[in-house]
Amino acid sequence: MLAGVLMDEIKILLRKLHSISAHKFTKVELGPLISGLTFNIVTRMIAGKRYYGEDVVGIEEARQFRELVGEMFADGRATYPGDFLPIFKYFDRQGGTHTVAATIEWAMSNLLNHPGVLKKARAEVDDFLCPKQLQDETDLSKLQYLQNIVSETFRLYPATPLLVPHISSDNCTIGVDGYKLLTFGLGRRACPGMGLANRIIGLTLGSLIQCFEWERVDGKAIDMVEGSADIAMPKLGPWKPNAKLVQ
Ligand code: HEM
Repeated sequence: MLAGVLMDEIKILLRKLHSISAHKFTKVELGPLISGLTFNIVTRMIAGKRYYGEDVVGIEEARQFRELVGEMFADGRATYPGDFLPIFKYFDRQGGTHTVAATIEWAMSNLLNHPGVLKKARAEVDDFLCPKQLQDETDLSKLQYLQNIVSETFRLYPATPLLVPHISSDNCTIGVDGYKLLTFGLGRRACPGMGLANRIIGLTLGSLIQCFEWERVDGKAIDMVEGSADIAMPKLGPWKPNAKLVQ
């Protein structure tokens, strides 16, 4: 039902990137754009409102929202003060906006550090998708290599590396045979946002790969240092790859 919101926000991101990199390679600060994308998707799904982007500059409610979220993520590092508003707990810690944005950032950084893999991902997108047509949710299952990139990102840079502590209320036997991707937890308390997260990550990455050429600034490897956090594992500090629109 809400697939339109997802694609709409991705198109807004693509238009923004297009406006700054249509003619030549341009340095882009992807981190804030991706955080804005994930927050806008979740706030639009829950409240029908978007708080990031040029069209909401000057709107007081949006400013207040960004200010509160900004305080939580000063310097790109997630911090969770004990007294923050419960709604943000839902939006971020539970709602998973930051985990999704962090995963997209890790994946793009890894792709930029491994141009051969980026090239293969691009070839897959070109093979399976119609040129000049953006992918949609139904295309995701065709893009197996892209799915593998997402799984590998979860393995190398799990957004919630320590999972969430639980105490079993009764004796139990643990058997996780056959399903070893633990990024979203397992069992009854596993993440209910897994499907949504996978769609946002897959569609955003696929669209960025399909529509733009990417390269590192001055060929320098992207720093993969992990930021400190209590529950989520962000990348430390900003990063600015070069983007150029695929003509
Ligand atoms: C890459 C993205 C995400 C990762 C890695 C992630 C991971 C997790 C993990 C590990 C848990 C704890 C599971 C447990 O208690 O054993 C969790 C819980 C939860 N997640 Fe996510 N999540 C992501 C995205 C999302 C999204 C997009 C949403 C919703 C919009 C969401 C909503 C929730 C909620 C509501 C819970 C609490 C469930 C409960 O306590 O019963 N998550 N997530």
